[in-house]
Amino acid sequence: MQTHKTIAETRAACRAARQSGKRLALVPTMGALHEGHLSLVRAARTSCDVVAVSIFVNPAQFGPNEDLAKYPRNFERDQLLLEKENVDLLFAPSLEEMYPQGSVTWVTVEGLSHKLDGRSRPGHFRGVTTVVSKLFHIIAPDVAFFGQKDAAQVAVIRRMVRDLNFPVEIVACPIVREPDGLAMSSRNVFLDARQRSQALVLHRSLMQVKNAWEAGETDAAKLAAAGRDEMKKQNSVRLDYFEVVDPDSLDSVTNVANGALVAVAAFVGSTRLIDNILLPRRG
Ligand code: PAF
Repeated sequence: MQTHKTIAETRAACRAARQSGKRLALVPTMGALHEGHLSLVRAARTSCDVVAVSIFVNPAQFGPNEDLAKYPRNFERDQLLLEKENVDLLFAPSLEEMYPQGSVTWVTVEGLSHKLDGRSRPGHFRGVTTVVSKLFHIIAPDVAFFGQKDAAQVAVIRRMVRDLNFPVEIVACPIVREPDGLAMSSRNVFLDARQRSQALVLHRSLMQVKNAWEAGETDAAKLAAAGRDEMKKQNSVRLDYFEVVDPDSLDSVTNVANGALVAVAAFVGSTRLIDNILLPRRG
């Protein structure tokens, strides 16, 4: 695996791959890799000739009171994991390399960026779309892989790619869960044993919705109420949002017969966790 810290070296390596007719995948990450990330790498490996992974903890997507300083970082371990997955290229730039002094240009997807996590985390998606568009310019992948756990991020990036004509296919891969249902997240390391068990309420609340849907309920307000009621049972967990929305526009829906995204975000202690399920179109 080649590891590059500069944009110039990364561009040259990616250009060489493309010029030899190879299909190039990008898996953008902030490191602290877990099975969820590795599932993206494996999906990339099966459909592309060259797999590039980026590791960059992007300050632009963290709010002033968020966990940038304590965000987990373990570069050597990440490097070993990626080597084992036969990743071809790791791009791991410094802060100065990605945001040279005086950087003032942002990429913003209006509207969508202020829904779900964007509403709770002002400026978050502007930071995501800015860094992802920089990565797309540097690596110029044919395909980029993202986790469905960040469902709102997927919707925002898909819209950016469409609106700005990025020649890249976006693939969203299924959420990877622990055996007891907890969605894998780099932030799970912040949970102590008690919080780890309290955190299971997110998945339970989504399962309540799924059960009600399977029993024939299609009214979005009733489904959301079933999920919120389950969340209330774990009163040490502070609900941020529990919503039933259209997966592309992230707008609330009244009925889920045409399919819907059911998304939850909550604080377990000071750790903010998210999870979701997709309800398919009925029939
Ligand atoms: O999903 C993430 O880890 C980040 O938001 C991303 C896409 C790597 C951009 O920093």
